[in-house]
Amino acid sequence: MADNVAALSVDGKTYELPLTTGTENETAVDISSLRAKSGLITLDQGFKNTGSTKSAITFLDGEKGILRYRGYTIEELAEKSSFLEVSYLLIHGELPTPEQYDKFKKEITVHTLVHEDIKNILDGFPSNAHPMGVLSSLVCSLTAFYPKSLDPNRSTEEVNLSIVRILAKMPTLAAWSYKNEVGHPVNYPDNSLDYCSNFLKMMFALPAEKYEVDPVIADALDKLLILHADHEQNCSTSTVRIVGSSQASLYSSISAGINALWGPLHGGANQAVIEMLEKIKADGGNANKYIEKAKDKDDSFRLMGFGHRVYKNFDPRAKIIKKAADNVLDKLGINDPILEIAKGLEEAALRDDYFVERKLYPNVDFYSGIIYRAMGIPTEMFTVMFALGRLPGWIAQWKEMRENNEPIGRPRQVYTGHNERPYQGIDKR
Ligand code: CMC
Repeated sequence: MADNVAALSVDGKTYELPLTTGTENETAVDISSLRAKSGLITLDQGFKNTGSTKSAITFLDGEKGILRYRGYTIEELAEKSSFLEVSYLLIHGELPTPEQYDKFKKEITVHTLVHEDIKNILDGFPSNAHPMGVLSSLVCSLTAFYPKSLDPNRSTEEVNLSIVRILAKMPTLAAWSYKNEVGHPVNYPDNSLDYCSNFLKMMFALPAEKYEVDPVIADALDKLLILHADHEQNCSTSTVRIVGSSQASLYSSISAGINALWGPLHGGANQAVIEMLEKIKADGGNANKYIEKAKDKDDSFRLMGFGHRVYKNFDPRAKIIKKAADNVLDKLGINDPILEIAKGLEEAALRDDYFVERKLYPNVDFYSGIIYRAMGIPTEMFTVMFALGRLPGWIAQWKEMRENNEPIGRPRQVYTGHNERPYQGIDKR
């Protein structure tokens, strides 16, 4: 047998399956020929150990706590880069030259305004609508305003224009989803401001008051967005790729990704963490009580912001965010008792055998909400902030999937229902 094949023996027959190795020496058994050779399929619920694609965008080593975008470490990017530069890197594969960066920034600035009719759609939502539902609907509605975007095969120029438009308009749509919730008039983009400052102004400026963007908040937001920008084949990104694999448009694929992100086991965890910390505070701040609840298999309570499908050592993003939370609260002169509760909970969990044995560590969502709170961002908007950050990653992954001409995503199943049986219902004859 050759070195670069795996052998699978079933009922005395051996099937050879090729191995494929990535640039970081991760090896996979390529089972795509298995069914044709043997009639067998593989089963892996939740895709816990199944690669869905080959990708050159993000590398993640969950055991070593490594995260790199296009080869650059998250630590270095968070310290030295900006969200727009990282967006360019993810989408186009390389860091931009100063000229390329200038052009990219200008293009995005030019497209920040949304069609005035989008306000009519916004007006149709009740004011208690969750901003994530509003955002995904508004993003999908862009297909109506830009019908040429519907066919992703139309031209590279059209696809690039769609990419620029969604990057430019997302802060506007995100801020408007919040304005709808609080019942305030929307603010229009201010193109004299940078990406994050423009978003903050659209979020917080009120007609009757003067609003100045605090650079500490704008910088912290930029760093948070970088940390969220991509995370290889997670639930929402896989959703974007699989929706896009049917040749659906970029806007509808991203809208689907926003919905997948919303759940509390994924991006919605940042909202759930703060709600959990508030609950612990109101209940006297006893971290141990909640650690015990999380360990109790008869109790549905989970320690939100803890655990990760791939990080089994630490989440490098959480390390950076924990430090940033201390820094931002300190600079803004905020003393949030929730931060102390979070640190106490982390310490107690990291000493507890249940969490140690299962390798459960704080993830990106554990401390991010504390920073968002300090910035004045309301809890229901936290996952919208995650979506804003993840956008360039979704775009890059959608673009890569299209450029690689990947086939439509269509998993198989092991059927466990009834065998054929005669009809016994209310016969209409
Ligand atoms: N609290 C208590 N127990 C937990 C937790 C938790 N947060 N997370 C996992 N476990 C236990 C789980 O009960 C299981 O125990 P056992 O082996 O005894 O059955 C074991 O750890 C393995 O967990 P799993 O649910 O099989 O692991 P998974 O890879 O399917 O789920 C997860 C990963 C992130 C959904 C899960 O850890 C979780 O629900 N965490 C809380 C939600 C959260 O913070 N999500 C944000 C993830 S990071 C942001 C993002 O990119 O989405």
